[in-house]
Amino acid sequence: MRILLGVGGGIAAYKAAQLARALMERGAAVETVMTRSAREFIQPLTFASLTGNKVITDLFASGSSDQDTLSSAIEHIRAARDNELLLVAPCTADLLAKFAHGLADDFLSTTYLAFTGKVVLAPAMNVNMWNHPAVQANLATLRQRAGHIIVDPDAGYLACGMTGPGRLADPKHIADVAVQALRRREDLTGETVLISAGPTQEPLDPVRFISNRSSGKMGYALADAARARGARVILVSGPVHLPPPAGVEMVRVRTAVEMRDAIIGRLPESTIIIKSAAVADYHVANVPAQKVKKTAAKVSIDLDPTPDILAECGRIKGDRILIGFAAETQNMMQEARRKMEVKNCDMVVGNLVSQEGIGFESDNNAVTLILRSGEVEKIAEAPKREIADRILDQITKLRLAAAVHE
Ligand code: PMT
Repeated sequence: MRILLGVGGGIAAYKAAQLARALMERGAAVETVMTRSAREFIQPLTFASLTGNKVITDLFASGSSDQDTLSSAIEHIRAARDNELLLVAPCTADLLAKFAHGLADDFLSTTYLAFTGKVVLAPAMNVNMWNHPAVQANLATLRQRAGHIIVDPDAGYLACGMTGPGRLADPKHIADVAVQALRRREDLTGETVLISAGPTQEPLDPVRFISNRSSGKMGYALADAARARGARVILVSGPVHLPPPAGVEMVRVRTAVEMRDAIIGRLPESTIIIKSAAVADYHVANVPAQKVKKTAAKVSIDLDPTPDILAECGRIKGDRILIGFAAETQNMMQEARRKMEVKNCDMVVGNLVSQEGIGFESDNNAVTLILRSGEVEKIAEAPKREIADRILDQITKLRLAAAVHE
């Protein structure tokens, strides 16, 4: 494991030394880049002594010859190429802004742009800076960026004398996140993951429809995470306003019937099926060809059930791994277990959608994984991209268990 540790300028810079040590204890080779302001807080020699590697501090280090200067000018390309993960801690508000907007005016920011692997950012700053809308907007951009993991700061007493979120997360925790991110790499190679995401729209007439609040964020995060772990990914998506994740085969549908046809049509190619879409349970079977006119009278609509795609997948899945979701406002565990049995799933992701800040539309989620073996894993609130990786972690365990029983 080769990790490039970027150290930003903040009072927490001294904890980056503990982080370098924690990474090395976990078997990583660490190369360090320090920004100019980081060097005001801690000396490069500390990192050089801890890691056994020279510390990079300048984009244009002055050398004895033009050749030296040229080598140092392209050093960021070498550092980006030779390392498997870029970890920035403490990641200051300034660095978050540079990374979010693609500014490149020092070694760390140019290396960030040249780097194509996974990026872990551990921010630390004053609580008011952390809460500032500009910082939160930059964080939101980076949370959505493929291959990026944000390790949120802890809340507590800060060096500035204020209390609240902003303190660098525990270095051992940051090291665990970084190492796990590297271990997850490519563990789904050879798998074809078929994912459904977003809502469906069920027409009432040519201009009206029934739908729900699903934004597609959970399903798109799963698609992005599965792709990053080496899988071929087919994403069957209802109408959403999200850009397609890079490297994923998109199949766009509108109604439950179209989603059913797309999923069942692509099922033979797949080895893992994840049904995170919020499919409408009812639709108008015979949609009127013309817009329904307004009258003073009450109207009622006859709705027929839509095809139950998950149940159909459960009947024909063979030895494929099938993951259902259960979005519930009450009795989540019972409902999830019931769905697992009735629909022949290998795991159900229980999502309590009545809780503020998680579930539909939000960037975060909190879920409970219910496995056929009876095992239950509760995953606390985290960005949907992190939740996606935790769901995929369980799927890789299911795959290993299935291989042992073959
Ligand atoms: O899209 P986001 O805004 O990010 O929100 C994420 C989410 C809340 C939509 C997601 O986390 C979630 O919980 N998805 C499942 C939503 C749902 O419709 O759950 P359900 O309990 O009604 O359905 C159970 C399962 O059956 C689901 O896997 C669903 O895809 C599937 N189903 C449902 C109806 C139907 N006709 N066919 C199906 O296959």
